[in-house]
Amino acid sequence: EPLCRSGVWRFHELLPFAPPEAVVTIGEGQTPLILTNGVADYIGLNHDRLYLEYEGMNPSGSFKDNGMTAAFTHAHMTGAQRAACASTGNTSASLALYCCSSKLMKAVIFIGSGKISYGKLSQALDYGALTVQIAGDFDDAMHRVQQISKQLGIYLVNSVNPFRLEGQKTIMFRVLESLNWEVPDWIVVPGGNLGNSSAFGKAFHELHQLGLIERMPRIAIINAAGANTLYELYENRGLRWNKGEPDTSIVNGYYAELDSEGRRADTIASAIEINRPVNLYKCLRALECTQGVVREVSEQEMLDAKAQVGANGMGCEPASAASVAGAKLLREEGVIGRDERVVCILTGHQLKDPTATVAYHTADQNEFNRVLGSRGVSRAAYANR
Ligand code: F0G
Repeated sequence: EPLCRSGVWRFHELLPFAPPEAVVTIGEGQTPLILTNGVADYIGLNHDRLYLEYEGMNPSGSFKDNGMTAAFTHAHMTGAQRAACASTGNTSASLALYCCSSKLMKAVIFIGSGKISYGKLSQALDYGALTVQIAGDFDDAMHRVQQISKQLGIYLVNSVNPFRLEGQKTIMFRVLESLNWEVPDWIVVPGGNLGNSSAFGKAFHELHQLGLIERMPRIAIINAAGANTLYELYENRGLRWNKGEPDTSIVNGYYAELDSEGRRADTIASAIEINRPVNLYKCLRALECTQGVVREVSEQEMLDAKAQVGANGMGCEPASAASVAGAKLLREEGVIGRDERVVCILTGHQLKDPTATVAYHTADQNEFNRVLGSRGVSRAAYANR
C-alpha cells in the first residue's frame, strides 16, 4: 500500500480532498518524535517531559514535504503543468523535489537576493527548478509570485494554498500517535509565514470536534526578534481573531509603520526572515482555540539552543531552534511548568544552513565576524569548550 508508506497519506481520511489514486507521494512524513532529556535540562524541564519532532528527516530535509505532497497532489488533480512558490529555501527545495521525482510538473521558484542558504539553493538547482532571484527580500518575492502566478495561471504552492495546510496537519497526528494519543501540554513551533501553526490549530480543532481528543494542547509560536510581526501584533498590540473579525486596522497600521521606517525582516534564521506572514489571520484562530502564546527570541538564544540540539545528537537549522529557545524562555517565565509535557518542532535539517553553525563554533575571528559580527552574538559557546 503506497499510501501507508507516507506519514501524510496514511491519515487520508482526515484530508479528504484527494482520492487515493490521485496521490503523489515520495514517502514524506516518516519522522521520529524523540524524547531528549539533555535538551530538557537546558530548557529547565523535568526528565521524560520534552520531545523533539524531527521534521528534518523528510525527503527534502524539512517539514515542507508534509504540505507539498498535498498541494502537489491537488495541483496535479487540476491539470496544472507548472507550480510556483516564493521561498526562503525550504519550500522551493521541496517543490523542486516533487517536480523532478514525479516528472508531472515544472517548478518555478522566486527567491530574495542573498536571502537563501546555499544548502537549500543547491537542492533547487540540482533538482532542476527554474530559479528566479528578485531584487528584494522574501516579502517582496511573496508579493511578486502571487501576482505572477495569477497572471500566468501557474499553480501556487506557498502556504496561502489551503491544501498545504491540510498536509501539515499530519505532523500533529503523528506527534499524537507517538504519544499514544495523549495530548501534550505544549506544542512549540517557530513562526515564519505561520503555515505550520495555522495547520496545527486546525488539526487539533478537527480532532476535538471529531471526539478523538478530549482537550487541546496550548500552542506557543516563536518568532525571531528580527522578524517578529506576530509577536508585536498579538502580544503588544492586542490583535485577536475575534470570531473571524480581527481588527485589520491594527495590522495595516503596523505595516504602514514598517514601510515608513523602511524596516525589513532581519535574522540569521533566514528561513523565518519574514515580516508579512501570509497566514496571519488563520494563525490568530489557531492561537484562540489553543489558548496560544507568542514569544520572540534573540539570535544568541537561537544559536545557543541549536548547539544544544546538536550536542544531544540531533541537528536543526537556526530557525528550527527558535522552538527550543522559546520553550526555555517560557519555562523561565513560568508560563510552561517544569513538569508539563512539551513537544518542540525541529522544522529543518542541520545541513540546510551550515554557515551560521560554522561561524558560531569557529576559532577563526574573521569568519565569526563575517557571518555573526553584526548580530550581537557572543562567542561564549566556543570559549567555554
Ligand atoms: N522553519 C523552517 C526551517 C522553515 O523553512 C520555515 C519556513 C519555518 C520554520 C516557518 O514556518 O512559515 O509555517 O511559519 N520556510 C518558508 C520557506 C517560508 O520558504 O521555505 P511557517
